[in-house]
Amino acid sequence: MDNNLFDEVRKNIENNKSNHLTIMHDTIVKNNLKTIVECGVDRGTSTCAFLEAIRKTTGRLYSFDIKDCSNLSSNRNWSFLQVNDLDIKRILQKFPDLKENGIDFLYIDSYHEPNHVRSLLHKYFPHINVNGYVFVDDTSAYPFRNLNILTDSINSDLCKEEVEEFYFSNFDSIDYQYNGGENGLAILKKIKNKDINTNYLWKYNFIIYFFFKFVKKIKYKLLLKSKLKF
Ligand SMILES: C[S@@+](CC[C@H](N)C(=O)[O-])C[C@H]1O[C@@H](n2cnc3c(N)ncnc32)[C@H](O)[C@@H]1O
Repeated sequence: MDNNLFDEVRKNIENNKSNHLTIMHDTIVKNNLKTIVECGVDRGTSTCAFLEAIRKTTGRLYSFDIKDCSNLSSNRNWSFLQVNDLDIKRILQKFPDLKENGIDFLYIDSYHEPNHVRSLLHKYFPHINVNGYVFVDDTSAYPFRNLNILTDSINSDLCKEEVEEFYFSNFDSIDYQYNGGENGLAILKKIKNKDINTNYLWKYNFIIYFFFKFVKKIKYKLLLKSKLKF
């Protein structure tokens, strides 16, 4: 592991309590979570945070990436597999412990594409233990809206929508929180074991949505003009 990166992440965890790595690290430590799975490794920033967390909980970290990131660490409590994270069959074959003991904490930070996020939720959620967590990163459009980047803004909104659709379709087995700081961290906690519902709830038509919004705006302006008191 790059010691500089590891030190940087450790400092961040100690000093910046609103950082997404700290939030995840603290969740793992506070709840004494043992089996951590990470989709998307890259240069290993989140990997460092998770290795620091499992050092304290005496847990194990499983990380997956389509790139070879195996040289990042020699920690013996870390397992890396170069794989498409959608290939859960191969992952469970390689790590039967995940199937047998379940997952306590899953971090989704690989391909930030709504359909991918949806598939990951459908494939992994049945393996999450009760009182276990799923954290999904990069679900806020605001950082991209700030930079006027249209496609990434829409994409992030769509990713957030996928998480919320999943939550609302499985309302009674999940607690949902949203941390809007940084890039937007969606947090699902499994509170009950139940078969997941993969169907979407009914949703209104977007043309009607914009029409309704427009009519409300006009109506409100007319009300103001007529000096009506609220
Ligand atoms: C945003 S980076 C991960 C950052 C990392 N979690 C961190 O905090 O430093 C996304 C990573 O996901 C990987 N990735 C993209 N699609 C993937 C897939 N289908 N399966 C596994 N990894 C994927 C990319 O190769 C890239 O390294």
